[in-house]
Amino acid sequence: MTSVQHSDSTFPAPTATFPAGFRWGAATAAYQIEGAAGEDGRGPSIWDTFARTPGKVLGGDTGDVAVDHYHRFREDIALMSDLGLTSYRFSISWPRVQPSGSGPLSQAGADFYRRLVDALLEAGIEPWPTLYHWDLPQPLEDAGGWPERDTAYRFADYADRIHAVLGDRVPQWMTINEPWCAAFLGYASGEHAPGRREPAAALRAAHHLMLGHGAAVQAMRARHPGHRFGAAVNLYAISPAGPSDADADAARRIDGMQNRFFLDPLLRGSYPADVLTDVEEYGFDACVREGDLATINQRLDLLGINYYSRFTVTGETEGPDGEGETGQAVSSPFSTHSPWVGSEFVGFVNAGRPVTGMGWEIDASGLYEVLTRLKDDYPPVDLYITENGAGYDETLNGEGTVHDEGRISYIDEHLRACHAAVTKGVPLRGYFTWSLLDNFEWSWGYSKRFGLVHVDYATQRRVPKDSARWYADVIRRGGPPD
Ligand code: NOJ
Repeated sequence: MTSVQHSDSTFPAPTATFPAGFRWGAATAAYQIEGAAGEDGRGPSIWDTFARTPGKVLGGDTGDVAVDHYHRFREDIALMSDLGLTSYRFSISWPRVQPSGSGPLSQAGADFYRRLVDALLEAGIEPWPTLYHWDLPQPLEDAGGWPERDTAYRFADYADRIHAVLGDRVPQWMTINEPWCAAFLGYASGEHAPGRREPAAALRAAHHLMLGHGAAVQAMRARHPGHRFGAAVNLYAISPAGPSDADADAARRIDGMQNRFFLDPLLRGSYPADVLTDVEEYGFDACVREGDLATINQRLDLLGINYYSRFTVTGETEGPDGEGETGQAVSSPFSTHSPWVGSEFVGFVNAGRPVTGMGWEIDASGLYEVLTRLKDDYPPVDLYITENGAGYDETLNGEGTVHDEGRISYIDEHLRACHAAVTKGVPLRGYFTWSLLDNFEWSWGYSKRFGLVHVDYATQRRVPKDSARWYADVIRRGGPPD
């Protein structure tokens, strides 16, 4: 489908109790929390290299120490228990378990995740690992990175090997996280590692990320057919800025590149024809070989949705007064403007909604829209919100805590949107907030905090924010308070 949908009147729900069995979680990712970058044989990743390149990350911050989760995971699991989490989403660091990106796993690396998983299980918390959250082993980037087809096979091999180690304990697996970001911020806008600005390479990277996903699912499912496999994609609600055809077409393009370019191959086994036309000049077709789409289109047992915001876009290059472009470079998720790959102008417009500390517009109705669209337009698949949350600049107050009302109301509104979708029959089975802990926010370094738990980066002291207590109460009740 190519149209952009709008929300309807069932949102927001005043009372919102989720069905029994709904998963309540929080999410993190290896490079953002683990630290211990040089320990126990971990190899360098593209983020180690990128963060060390002057000017790439705010303040020159790196993930070398991060929040030292590698050494403090037991303390962090105790925090999860206090919250009452049923499930914890984390990522496995590929360069920690397979430092060169190929060959046998590092014993020490695999042992770390075995200890982590065992401690989670002891605490009664389901481990939800993600296999790729952006930390490609540097040797694989040196060989060309995701734009090279071989990287997809390297990924499937790594997935297969770590699944062999943990598969007896972990029955649910997410392959790739936010392939749009990995491909387009990494290889088109260059805002993320490895920092390349090559649109054609970015498109190939996107294809190979999804090919790697499919090949990894094939390999893991062959070992444990009963396990549940999926990927986590970042989806956006998209609105045209105005009624013009140019704005409608801009919305179609951005929806195509951000959403359908990933959803369609994963869930339908084809690329959207209009997007293929939009990107024709980059020779994308050449990297798609016979059988690739069938590999990508493995049956999914779950689809993870990372949702943060709505984009409002324009295709008008002239303002109403005839002067200049109407498209403003506004702060939008992960980017000052989305790295649109195509020759037409697309502008991102500030629609005037309240924003988080990232400058991202808050619109929970967009989450409802994304969820109902998946139910209405795609084959049935169990859905999970694998990320949703709000980042702010925060400091401990005089009482030594953080009154983060903004985060509480953000999560509250989005949970109500989720509940409204469930009421409409959307098979949403769980919600993971981003994030458990304050952590390394990619090119923003440590300047933006998304955690339910505040971390003092100098002492590594953890202090639950008001949102942590509030979320624990939500979990106890089975939904946000009336
Ligand atoms: C997207 C990413 O998956 C995660 O790593 C990031 O920190 C959050 N969402 C917030 O930007």
